[in-house]
Amino acid sequence: MKLPVYLYGHPVLRNISQPVKADYPDLKMLVANMFETMYASEGVGLAAPQIGRNDRIVVIDSDPVGETFPECVGRKFTLINPEITILDGDPVSRAEGCLSLPGLSENVSRVEHILLKWVDEDFNSHEEELSGFLARIVQHECDHLEGKLYIDHISLIRKQLIRTKLHNIVEGRIRCEYPVKFAPKKRK
Ligand code: NI
Repeated sequence: MKLPVYLYGHPVLRNISQPVKADYPDLKMLVANMFETMYASEGVGLAAPQIGRNDRIVVIDSDPVGETFPECVGRKFTLINPEITILDGDPVSRAEGCLSLPGLSENVSRVEHILLKWVDEDFNSHEEELSGFLARIVQHECDHLEGKLYIDHISLIRKQLIRTKLHNIVEGRIRCEYPVKFAPKKRK
């Protein structure tokens, strides 16, 4: 089942998400729905806050960007309670987008090498060193679990330049190819 993607301005994107326990109800169904939602909106990653849940769940399929970034070919992950350790302090700047910020793309500086620890939907533990754009996708998605968005990493000047676009998303004045949920209207 496709789920609506919660857009910038919705408070659920700003909360810190809770760890997932083994008795989480219908976890596999939720993960399947998250993949379906991600594919339908042509994203390469989706975090649970983006479908309105403050739980530490991320899905990634980076294969669609594999032609540009070979490290992304055929890589598909279900990350439950992921933990990142930075392995390399030299940040690289590249363009990022986010399904919760339709129509926007900004350069974001991130490190190229990380150690990722996580459990899958069967609660088996995994650990892997990741690099390049794949490491970037993982960092972007894990930011969502801390209530962070990629625009939090850009300069004040850049943020000023996209202010109107951001405002339009908050106010619901945009059109989107996939089902979305706008921020609740503020009472005047
Ligand atoms: Ni995102």
